[in-house]
Amino acid sequence: MDKALASGACDVSSILAGGANIKYDLNDMSTPDSNIDGVFAKNLFSAKDFSGELKKTLPGKIYRLLRKVGHIADDNNVRVYLAGGFVRDLISGGRNFDMDIVAEGDAITFAPVLARQLKATLQLYPRFKTATLKLQDDLRIDLASARTEYYAHAGALPEVRLSSLRDDLCRRDFTINTLAVSLNKKFFGKLVDFFNGQKDIKDKKIKVLHDLSFIEDPTRIFRAVRLEQRLGFRIDKHTKSLLKAAVDLKMFDRLSKGRIADELKLLLSEPSPAKVIRRMEQLHKLKFLHSRIKYNRRMKNYLVSAQKILHWHKTNLPQYPIQGWLVYLLAITDELKFRAAGEFYAGLGLKRSECRCLMSCKRYGKEAIASLQKVKLSCPSKIYKILKPLSEEAVLFLAVKYGERNLREFFMKFLKKYAKIKLRITGDDIKKLNLRPGPEFRNILEYILWAKIDGQVKSKKDELALAGKYISRLRN
Ligand code: CTP
Repeated sequence: MDKALASGACDVSSILAGGANIKYDLNDMSTPDSNIDGVFAKNLFSAKDFSGELKKTLPGKIYRLLRKVGHIADDNNVRVYLAGGFVRDLISGGRNFDMDIVAEGDAITFAPVLARQLKATLQLYPRFKTATLKLQDDLRIDLASARTEYYAHAGALPEVRLSSLRDDLCRRDFTINTLAVSLNKKFFGKLVDFFNGQKDIKDKKIKVLHDLSFIEDPTRIFRAVRLEQRLGFRIDKHTKSLLKAAVDLKMFDRLSKGRIADELKLLLSEPSPAKVIRRMEQLHKLKFLHSRIKYNRRMKNYLVSAQKILHWHKTNLPQYPIQGWLVYLLAITDELKFRAAGEFYAGLGLKRSECRCLMSCKRYGKEAIASLQKVKLSCPSKIYKILKPLSEEAVLFLAVKYGERNLREFFMKFLKKYAKIKLRITGDDIKKLNLRPGPEFRNILEYILWAKIDGQVKSKKDELALAGKYISRLRN
């Protein structure tokens, strides 16, 4: 192990210089020119048989699917293995049915055959030699060619070359993700464990495979914390010092804003973002975010409360999914004023719709709170008019921030009831009342909607009658 790097004292400038190839000593872990068939047979004959666990633990349809993948691979002379998070979670008792399958050989050639036989839709990524198959029941297989990756420079996307399973596994992030299960018929269920992954799962340890892991791919700084908090594991001491050294070497700056945004979205979509953010604060003071974003008690409380409110939303309104991660992002960026927030969100490369959703909170949030304090709970359409300019994610964040001021009921009523009320009539019905299409149409429909929210109209007939009255008032 590279103790110098662990202490942060190592000169890695040659590694960090743009364009330099990263080379590292894998302590003889790789088998670059090995006799793959020999290694294959030797490893699998002596490997632990995991087929009983597969049968016992997996839902029948997934077990049968994996068997079928093995058969199809046999017919095409390809060796296939389940790897990554699926195997890790299977062993640690979690559930993860996103199948990460590694093929020894070219996945790009095998993928269309597999997709045809499994009746799956197929997306190929030739540059990375990977493919995604989408099957019925929301099942998904990520198929990758066993590969070795080269990084043109630190933080870049990898260049890919075909290789053996062992080479593929030793390029991975943490030992707990290096387990693989053979799917071919002869060795079905054999568990390949080159790097002591089972032991680290048992000891609940997150360990990198080599000292330059975080330098090579700084997104692993996020992944380490996400996995640690999700699985209830601990980042091992040496790995923690490597992580901190990578932060001190400003490795976050090597990532594009887009990759930071992807990681941010993933971490805010974890079951408990409050815990992940707190841990990141301990490890590196959230240095990947805006310099004005500081972790404090208020942010902590917002994050915890956001989790409760999102749980309420999921339980009460499962038919209306929202982007919960944006509620957490509002909690984290609450200190940023309108302009700074706008620049920050746009700089992250978020989608326009996501920026709009977030900015509605900055633009109308304060005003909405002031107005709500002047209305009564018995005036639904007034509440509706005040909260309508805000996205639902923004309303949920306001419920987090101002929930204690007796306003929570307003937000809940709006989200559960008023925002969901729809008219039965449309513009076509208004046309039939002999009004020429124009801007007045919107006003009429809005007026009737308010009446409906206040309970003054119920049926389509009531709506039409009110539209008729409105139009005759216009004409007089
Ligand atoms: N991987 C890696 N370095 C990364 C991202 C991924 O080494 N920066 C490897 C990991 O070994 C991982 C595998 O690629 O197991 C598949 O990636 P992904 O599907 O993102 O990870 P999972 O481990 O399945 O994680 P999650 O449970 O969060 O989906």
